[in-house]
Amino acid sequence: MKISVFGLGYVGCVSAACLADMGHEIIGVDVNPQKLDRVRRGESPITEPGLDALLKQVVEAGRLQVTDDAAAAVLATDVSLICVGTPSRLNGSLDTHFLDRVIEQIGGALAYTDRFHVVTIRSTLLPGVVDDRIIPMLENASGKKAGVDFGLCINPEFLRESSAIADFRNPPFTVIGALDDRSAEIMEQVYSGIPAPVYKIAPAAASMVKYASNAFHALKVAFANEIGAICNNLGIDSQTVMHIFKQDRQLNISEAYLTPGFAFGGSCLPKDVRALLYTAKHRDVGTPLLSAILPSNDLHIQRAVERIIAIGQRNVALIGLSFKSGTDDLRESPMVRLAETLIGKGYRLTIYDEEVSLSNLMGRNQEYIQRVLPHIHELMNNDLESVARKNPVLIVGKQPKPPERLKACLSPEQIVLDLTGNGVWSPAETIKIV
Ligand SMILES: NC(=O)c1ccc[n+]([C@@H]2O[C@H](COP(=O)([O-])OP(=O)(O)OC[C@H]3O[C@@H](n4cnc5c(N)ncnc54)[C@H](O)[C@@H]3O)[C@@H](O)[C@H]2O)c1
Repeated sequence: MKISVFGLGYVGCVSAACLADMGHEIIGVDVNPQKLDRVRRGESPITEPGLDALLKQVVEAGRLQVTDDAAAAVLATDVSLICVGTPSRLNGSLDTHFLDRVIEQIGGALAYTDRFHVVTIRSTLLPGVVDDRIIPMLENASGKKAGVDFGLCINPEFLRESSAIADFRNPPFTVIGALDDRSAEIMEQVYSGIPAPVYKIAPAAASMVKYASNAFHALKVAFANEIGAICNNLGIDSQTVMHIFKQDRQLNISEAYLTPGFAFGGSCLPKDVRALLYTAKHRDVGTPLLSAILPSNDLHIQRAVERIIAIGQRNVALIGLSFKSGTDDLRESPMVRLAETLIGKGYRLTIYDEEVSLSNLMGRNQEYIQRVLPHIHELMNNDLESVARKNPVLIVGKQPKPPERLKACLSPEQIVLDLTGNGVWSPAETIKIV
């Protein structure tokens, strides 16, 4: 395919060289004449292992040319891959002035071609910028309709500097956030030589995958460093601790705990986070990240309360009371906290949980629920059908088994606040907070 690459920096140079190496015909575009000269000579303008050799090879083979003429590049190619910088402003917002300039140039050029051209943004871009800024700018400059007369994609890059070529060739996945099916298919062809799964999703979701990934990477570093600082203060070898920690592929380095849903609870996580924080505080080890965990969790419960208040109905059923499926453990369950808060606000609550039998509760579990919800006996009802039919609002914290049992009782006038993150409760109106 014929592809223009806008911005020959870290991402653009690597993308241009690798795509040319895959057999595509590339035109690199930059505003910096020194960068253009270097690439034209087959030399890398950035320090990146292997890039000099690769650039030399593809330039000599005639598969990578460069220019400062944006319009000529657009008119000669099928795809524009935008790799210009999107730096932060002082307040953290995105500085789009490099991007704006490129978008104006590409939009202006699109006015002069009947060929279907896909504008693909490889730069990291906040969700919303496409709808609020990029599409209006492209449509104004071209006089054409996005998704119809020209294509538009968000296609985030996941490479790391210093291993960029290997990362480009072996990404974890290719994310194509296309406005239209035709653009998605064209972009899939661009990466057809890359052995990675392709996910075709909405443009804003594609932007968000990139931000979620980088936020998580930053979170991991900060987490390891806070655990390391506590270890260091206690005279414990942090390298050993985290080495063992990383061997747990079932819970620690795994998919576990990474699905948006309701707040965590139970007899271990809140208690152990509190104990670790107490130790750190006692020894003057600052742990702002770990200290934010419980407030963040509480906020999530608060978010559910606010959503319930906004619904405006006083008769509410809670489906699920224990802290997760498969257990009757009520200790520090976020659903118990939700119940406590709603009762305090005068709501008429009914609670259903097929895994909780009050007569079987013992020990600390029984003590806890008697202390927090002393009238629990009056609130529990183990007839799901009756609970579902009698309450206009249902808060689902745990899906009953099978979920179809509950679904079968619902009517279009009812509202389900789905805290599980993945329930489907039609014909009732479903509200989600994650
Ligand atoms: N560097 C990374 O490791 C990395 C990894 C993934 C994603 N990203 C994202 O990719 C984007 C690019 O990052 P980078 O590090 O390659 O940036 P960079 O600053 O190294 O390169 C940007 C290039 O764009 C050029 N440019 C500016 N205005 C232009 C215009 N109007 N026309 C043509 N070229 C123009 C600049 O001269 C420069 O060469 C950013 O959004 C970044 O967040 C970067």
